[in-house]
Formats: sequence, structure tokens, C-alpha cells
Amino acid sequence: MSTPFHLNNKTVLITGASSGIGRQVAITCSEMGATVFITGRDKTRLDETFKLLKGNNHKQFTCDLVNETERNTVIDSLPNIDGLVHCAGIVLPAPVKFIEEKHIRQLMEINFDSAVLLVSRLLRSKKLNKDTSLVFMSSIGAHFPYNGGALYNASKAAIEAYSRNIARELHGSGIRSNCIVPAMVNTPMYDETLKGMNLTEEQYSGKYPLGIGKPEDVANAAVFLLSQASRWITGTNLSMDGGYTLTIL
Ligand SMILES: NC(=O)c1ccc[n+]([C@@H]2O[C@H](COP(=O)([O-])OP(=O)(O)OC[C@H]3O[C@@H](n4cnc5c(N)ncnc54)[C@H](OP(=O)(O)O)[C@@H]3O)[C@@H](O)[C@H]2O)c1
Repeated sequence: MSTPFHLNNKTVLITGASSGIGRQVAITCSEMGATVFITGRDKTRLDETFKLLKGNNHKQFTCDLVNETERNTVIDSLPNIDGLVHCAGIVLPAPVKFIEEKHIRQLMEINFDSAVLLVSRLLRSKKLNKDTSLVFMSSIGAHFPYNGGALYNASKAAIEAYSRNIARELHGSGIRSNCIVPAMVNTPMYDETLKGMNLTEEQYSGKYPLGIGKPEDVANAAVFLLSQASRWITGTNLSMDGGYTLTIL
């Protein structure tokens, strides 16, 4: 039976692949037939991801995406791609009162600026094939605030607006752009966020009717958005929250 739910013959760039969601997106994409190009800053953890990939011809790049030279070197050494899943990001919890300019720069540089600069460089160097699918990681926090999340949530609201604008500007080239909007997913960032909210795992996980998310849940959604199965979907935000937002009121 022929199915559009695969990534055979597709090449996909995945950032933040040395940990958490990005690592699982890379593994699942390779299992679904894609050739993947993975990036992260930590070489040891990126190597670990690389070893878990299925199939051949994958490539890995140790790179700080905030550094212009390193970022451009990665893009320039890539062949054309059919998909990007931008998972690199940080959380940096801080009460509104204590946010300083250095915190804004530190967070926005990776959560927002790097996405914008990656995409513009990829476009200018004509590295995006027709029908490329761009996938960005937003967060449920962009819609449901929590204490200490002002800066992080604002960066995710920015990426959603940016993605919708790409979808509008680039539809003529067949390029699609969508965001995944997860609530809490069990990764190293999850532990950091709980600390920022002053909550224990027991206090927090009870709020999720379907339990806390797994990296696999997000990776499966990324595969769908990269595949031809979603060819008619662009400019959307795919929320996935295990029922959390159904129980807030
Ligand atoms: N986990 C959640 O609950 C959750 C919920 C909603 C949205 N998200 C979003 O999903 C994405 C992935 O989150 P995660 O939970 O998988 O986080 P994670 O486990 O902390 O992984 C973050 C990744 O980003 C990379 N990264 C950070 N700064 C970088 C930089 N300057 N240059 C290059 N790479 C950089 C890290 O690389 P190194 O480790 O090699 O430095 C790591 O691979 C993030 O955008 C996050 O905001 C997560």
C-alpha cells in the first residue's frame, strides 16, 4: 500500500539534536527514511545521537547557532534540503522584575534570531528544495502564561508569528511553514522549567490527563509536518498538550 506518511528520499536539517526533542526528531526522521543533518553544541551528546540514527549518509555538525560564522559554515556545507526542524532553544526562567537586557539577548539569540537567520541564509543560498517543509518549536506557554516564563513565552509567540509570515511569503515556492506547540515534554529542559516554576514533578504531572509528553510524541508530529501527508497544511500551530489546557478552568 502506498502511503504519504514517510520521509523516503528527503533530506532534513535538525537543530538541537544533541538532546531531548531534537535528538528524538533526528532518530524518528531517520527511521522514517530521511537523510538527516544534525546540529548541537555538545559534541559528545551529538555523537550519541548520531550513533542512534538508522540508515546511511547522515551528517553531524557541532555548532553554536548564535555564532554567525559557525552557523553559516554549516549551511554552506549542506546539500539542498527538503525540511528543517528547528529544536535548538533555551528556557532561562526569570520573574518579570528581574529581566535585564542581557537575558533578553541571551534567550532571543537562540530561540528567535537563529531561526530567522538560518532561514534567510538557506533561502539566499538556494538550499531549500521546492516543497520544503519548515517546522519550528513553539510552546504552549506562548498562549498560557506561567510565572517566570515571560521572556521564553514571548520568544515562542515571536516564532509563531514569524512562521505564519513565512507561510504567506513563500507559498509560491511550495515552501510550507508550521509550528509545533507542545506543553511539558520530558527532556532536560522539563527539569529546568519545573525548577523555575518552583514545582515538583508530582505536583505538575497530575495536571496532565494523558501524562507528561514524551520526545517521541513531538517527533511523530514533526514527521507528519515534514511528510507529504501534510502537503495542504501551512501557517498552522499544532498544539499537543496531553489534555492539559482542557483542565485549566
Ligand atoms: N521540553 C519541553 O517541555 C518543551 C515544551 C515546549 C517547547 N519546547 C521547545 O522544544 C525545543 C527543544 O527542547 P528540549 O526540551 O529538547 O530542550 P533540551 O533537551 O534542553 O535541548 C535543547 C537543544 O538546544 C541546543 N542549543 C541550545 N542553545 C544552542 C545554541 N546556542 N546553538 C546550538 N544549539 C543550541 C542544545 O544543544 P547543546 O545541548 O549541545 O548545547 C540542545 O540540543 C526548544 O525550542 C524548546 O523551547 C520544549
